[in-house]
Amino acid sequence: MSETQARAKQIVLDGYAKASHAYRGDAFELEGSGYAHWLRRFAALVPAGAAVLDLGCGNGLPVARELAGRYDVTGVDLSPVQVGRARALVPLARFVCADMTEVEFPPASFAGVAAFYSLINVPVAGHAALLERIAAWLSPGGHVLATVGRDAWTGVEENWRGVPGARMYYSQASVHQYREWFAAAGLEIVEEGREPREGNPGYAVLLARRNG
Ligand SMILES: C[S@@+](CC[C@H](N)C(=O)[O-])C[C@H]1O[C@@H](n2cnc3c(N)ncnc32)[C@H](O)[C@@H]1O
Repeated sequence: MSETQARAKQIVLDGYAKASHAYRGDAFELEGSGYAHWLRRFAALVPAGAAVLDLGCGNGLPVARELAGRYDVTGVDLSPVQVGRARALVPLARFVCADMTEVEFPPASFAGVAAFYSLINVPVAGHAALLERIAAWLSPGGHVLATVGRDAWTGVEENWRGVPGARMYYSQASVHQYREWFAAAGLEIVEEGREPREGNPGYAVLLARRNG
């Protein structure tokens, strides 16, 4: 692991140890949130009962909880604090505390992968490889839904979420770059949008199908 990766990982771990609750409480109203549209689109494409991966699942709300009503859900998160909360809040899913750049799953083991606001905590130099990993975990015809950058930016937010001393690491490429990386990984984009759909224009959402 490079020095940049190790530093980013430590900032994310410390950030969620300090500010997990400030990021997300123990309740979340899905309807009216930016997640609702994309989870409906995901559900329209990924068959009920399938194995689905929630990558960077946080405390499980709202994504793992929503998916667990329809799918066999595995959540992965780097932060033991986030995973501990997810296990308590979403007992129907299984959760693995691991780095998404290192965790191993058998090839073609998921029909869907959701990665809301989590790739953007990983140094951008690793994003192309991460997309290759995601594509390999998907069965042919499977779908990935990911929040990615609109514009390239890497930095650290201080006093993150208003918590004194909490920091968060962000790293993203431009959406043009992601379109190329998705194509290179064999992921054909079927829908593209902004997240949140109203307000902050800082992210793009890409919904893509694994070909072949
Ligand atoms: C902004 S939160 C989003 C949580 C959830 N997906 C949501 O939308 O509510 C990002 C999550 O990704 C996790 N994360 C960041 N880097 C990670 C990595 N390398 N491997 C696994 N999880 C990671 C963080 O611990 C955090 O819980």
